[in-house]
Amino acid sequence: MTIAVEALDEAQAARELAELAATLARLGRAYHADDSPLASDAEYDALFARNLAIERRFPALVREDSPSARVGAALEGGFAKHRHLVPMLSLDNVFDRADFESFIARARRFLGWRDQPGPRIVAEPKIDGLSISLTYQNGRLVSGATRGDGATGELVTENLRSVMGLPQRLRGPAPGLVEVRGEVFLAKADFLALNRRQEEAGERRFANPRNAAAGSLRQLDPAITASRPLSLFAYAQGRSSEPLAETHAGYLDRLRDWGFAVNPLSAVLEDADDAERFQDRLAVERSGLAYDIDGVVYKIDDLALQERLGFIGRAPRWAVAWKFPAEQAVTRLEAIDIQVGRTGALTPVARLEPVNVGGVLVTRATLHNEDEIARKDVRPGDRVSLQRAGDVIPQILGRIDEPGAERGPAFVFPDRCPACGSKAVRPAGEVVVRCTGGLTCPAQTVERLIHLVSRNAFDIDGLGEKSIIEFHEAGLIRTPADIFRLRPEHLEGREGWKPVSIDKLMRAIEARRIIPLARFLFGLGIRRIGETNARLLARHYGSYENWRAQMQAATVVGSDERLALGSILGVGTAIADELATFFSEPHNRDAVDDLCAVLDKIEDEQAPESAALAGRTIVFTGTLETMTRPEAKAMAERMGAKVTDSVSRKTDLVVLGAEAGSKARKAAELGIATLDEAGWREMAGLPGTTG
Ligand code: IVH
Repeated sequence: MTIAVEALDEAQAARELAELAATLARLGRAYHADDSPLASDAEYDALFARNLAIERRFPALVREDSPSARVGAALEGGFAKHRHLVPMLSLDNVFDRADFESFIARARRFLGWRDQPGPRIVAEPKIDGLSISLTYQNGRLVSGATRGDGATGELVTENLRSVMGLPQRLRGPAPGLVEVRGEVFLAKADFLALNRRQEEAGERRFANPRNAAAGSLRQLDPAITASRPLSLFAYAQGRSSEPLAETHAGYLDRLRDWGFAVNPLSAVLEDADDAERFQDRLAVERSGLAYDIDGVVYKIDDLALQERLGFIGRAPRWAVAWKFPAEQAVTRLEAIDIQVGRTGALTPVARLEPVNVGGVLVTRATLHNEDEIARKDVRPGDRVSLQRAGDVIPQILGRIDEPGAERGPAFVFPDRCPACGSKAVRPAGEVVVRCTGGLTCPAQTVERLIHLVSRNAFDIDGLGEKSIIEFHEAGLIRTPADIFRLRPEHLEGREGWKPVSIDKLMRAIEARRIIPLARFLFGLGIRRIGETNARLLARHYGSYENWRAQMQAATVVGSDERLALGSILGVGTAIADELATFFSEPHNRDAVDDLCAVLDKIEDEQAPESAALAGRTIVFTGTLETMTRPEAKAMAERMGAKVTDSVSRKTDLVVLGAEAGSKARKAAELGIATLDEAGWREMAGLPGTTG
């Protein structure tokens, strides 16, 4: 029989900790080394949690071989990956009432609403922490993961067990499977206390509560996480094996019943007037709250409407974050430094007398570009006002006039790259001055390499900014492919590199010789090819070989391939030009080919698994009665289809609304399959309509 942890005496506790250490080690070995688990994950987790609970009550009894000091994944140095069943997305931001109203208007337009009022909305404080996804099976917490890149996060289940407001078991009836999402955060006071402790221990201080929460959650040792008082507010759903509620407010009630902490300030609102009042009230109450918030999230309450509205890019159409205005401060501009970015852009950066802005110590701020410096008329030595908003790099707002004070000379923007000495030019009509050194410029090379190994690109663990700079200086890594040519003997004897860390790095690199096409494309760091565009390209071209061949052909202005590139949904001519420019440079082509040659495999982009219409081209024509055109289009795209405007031999399906005209005739002529609106609804898995 197990005794409640509270009831254990010291001798019993010591005995049990010894037993638990032996048992968990045995189970761990079976699981990790022999790949033949002796217990279910849930059983293992329960024993682990008990061990942790006893240790927390009797800290003096923590054993050297304590299981909490050796989590399975920790042995490998890193966390296991966890694929979210439903992707974790982000939110679009608005900053004022007009933007907020356009968010509502957009949703209404999408739904085809004219006269009816609404929709009703739920407001919740936007917690400035990190989002996590929790999976419960039959009411038991089986896994918890960070957001990661939205599709895949890191498994931090054990670390989450000590988070307040997060039930290990759901209270009352629970579905077979449910993913619950929420924000893990550290209260302001706990953040300050933690930083004091860090300082005393000679450890690094955290910049803000969010970083501290993230750092605490990503501890390889759950005991460290447990020593940091993290909390959770639950606020969103992922996959669920059964419907949970009809409204978001109803879902929040469900979460409360299950035992989750739900933010008590959440409220149901009717319209923009309500929202503005809520926003103003929270802006005032904000400083008195125990935790950091950076705005309010507004979500359309009706879950059926949320479903219809769906997503665009990485954000839902049914929710928006109305951010608070940025926090401001005044300080002295000490100097203007020039930074060279990955794409060669020369960016002026203000070096500042350190100043506290809304709880964060700011020493640098961006000045954007040459024109901005002139427009704001700021010079080294001036007093300046600045602001920071959330994640955004602090920016200089302007100069504070000091009557009578003598000012320094105006800043002269360099015409040479400070990193390589190449000529820096500003193309006509552009605001940005660029270094012409290309990959011969060390700043660009280093920035590109840092980007290549970053989390959403190649994601090479243990190869961060510092090591890239070190290896670049040592001449070990000059091109992307060099990363994969790194050998243990290159690192042996280098300061700070021990056999264990070398081995770990080598494994991390090896693991990335197989890479999904979208990550590969994003990793190249081509201007304007961010994650979204990389994914679009990957999806469109399907394979690396196809993409590579098409890019080569697209360097020719006016070629079919160039036109096709520009007409990929969302890419456009500016991006097509950027890619073409990149590929017209021999050294860029060489770098890409060279990288490809050292990889084992660039994985083809798969259409989403569930995509019923994957790869099909579909045309909507005529008037749809039950949904708007954008809604139908978004639905088809979610199912993997490409939606075009005109019917041709390449069209696979035409959906005929009321009064479909010439396109219906053309479809019939070409013998293309057609569906009426009811048929389309059925295909999309929507309920039929009556009348
Ligand atoms: S809902 C699909 N609700 O804000 C929508 N997010 O900027 C999922 N956040 O990644 C998010 N408080 O980390 C939602 N009450 C709240 C939130 C919230 C904070 C964070 C979350 C998300 C980010 C988006």
